[in-house]
Amino acid sequence: MAITEIIPGLEGVPIAESAISRVDGQRSLLEYRGLSIETLAEHSTFEETCYMLLYGKLPTRTELSDFAADGTRHRRLKYRIVDLLKCLPEHGHPMEALQAAVAAIGMFYPDRYNPNAAQKRLSCLRLIEKVPVVVASFHRLRNGDDNVVPRRDLNIAGNFLYMLTGNEPDPQATRILDICMILHAEHTMNASTFAGRVVASTLAHPYCVVSSALGALSGPLHGGANEQVLQMLERIGSPENARAALARMVETKEKIMGFGHRVYKTVDPRAKILKKYAEDLCRRSGNKLYDIAAKVEEVASEVLSDRGICPNVDFYSGLVYAELGIPRDCFTSVFAMARVVGWLAHWLEQIENNRIFRPTQRYVGKVGDAYVPIADRR
Ligand code: CMC
Repeated sequence: MAITEIIPGLEGVPIAESAISRVDGQRSLLEYRGLSIETLAEHSTFEETCYMLLYGKLPTRTELSDFAADGTRHRRLKYRIVDLLKCLPEHGHPMEALQAAVAAIGMFYPDRYNPNAAQKRLSCLRLIEKVPVVVASFHRLRNGDDNVVPRRDLNIAGNFLYMLTGNEPDPQATRILDICMILHAEHTMNASTFAGRVVASTLAHPYCVVSSALGALSGPLHGGANEQVLQMLERIGSPENARAALARMVETKEKIMGFGHRVYKTVDPRAKILKKYAEDLCRRSGNKLYDIAAKVEEVASEVLSDRGICPNVDFYSGLVYAELGIPRDCFTSVFAMARVVGWLAHWLEQIENNRIFRPTQRYVGKVGDAYVPIADRR
């Protein structure tokens, strides 16, 4: 069947059947494997959510403890990966360091192409466990601090906070980060997941799949927006300035970062949950950026919500991360620490019923042009 219409950004075009997650953008609904994001944020843990996304069902107590304990065995980085991180420029973006490290990590595992179930599980565990360790290690090393060896007695969120600061993680901060990771773990066929599935369809190994997806996530229209939200809030400076600043942005057609979504035409359900944590944390610390954010949301909803442009996950996540002591340029990497499991679930689904992606184009260039020798060119 020849389809000749070009759909920019493939908006509304299904590219795969998937049983991993579901979004209803009119009803502010997100489910992973049929479970609502609100329920998971309240009752689940990131480790349990990972198991469920990968295997399609909630684990029993033993399955979960085996999965989590097996995972902790894969936390440590090869010393050569630590050396590689030391060699990267300290002013390079943490997402660039992460993408490079993930691609390099794969080279250490000759089993990376092996499609049996045990090897697939190993690759998933290694990636889920090592990505946060790379993020924390790169941050320490670029600051000239010693690398911290990961601990096996902490969950993924707690170990990340421990490695980042070198201090015992606060249990409440650990739980909030754990919830943030649940909220960011998966989100249907977005740009990075699609990029990962395209690479998976070539039967490239999962480290390649994840490093490609990381590249896609890094852009400011995707996972990079959370960093830019804080810059925007600081630029606005106070709640009183919000109305005039937004009017200017709307007039000059400047995008309001953390607003708008291809699928959600109402508030992103993850933003609602994150808003609550952002408010609690900022009230406690006296961070005034929350008040600016709340005012921006109020004014923006008057101006933009009738066009379906509402806060997305990135609008409040940066405030929460900043309050947890996460450096601003690591926000997108923290998003990636969670999304790695979504990409892996899509990798498993893609290779289960694979056909290589090979779309087509409508050629609009020259045809049959003459080759002009270089001496005759002007
Ligand atoms: N502020 C102001 N106007 C907006 C915004 C915004 N944040 N988002 C969309 N619009 C307008 C846009 O200018 C366009 O107007 P017009 O029809 O007059 O030209 C219309 O809405 C459609 O915008 P679009 O960019 O074609 O919509 P899209 O579905 O292609 O884009 C989006 C979705 C997320 C890229 C876009 O909303 C955006 O750039 N938002 C800001 C960046 C951001 O917050 N990204 C995080 C997305 S959620 C997490 C993630 O995916 O990682």
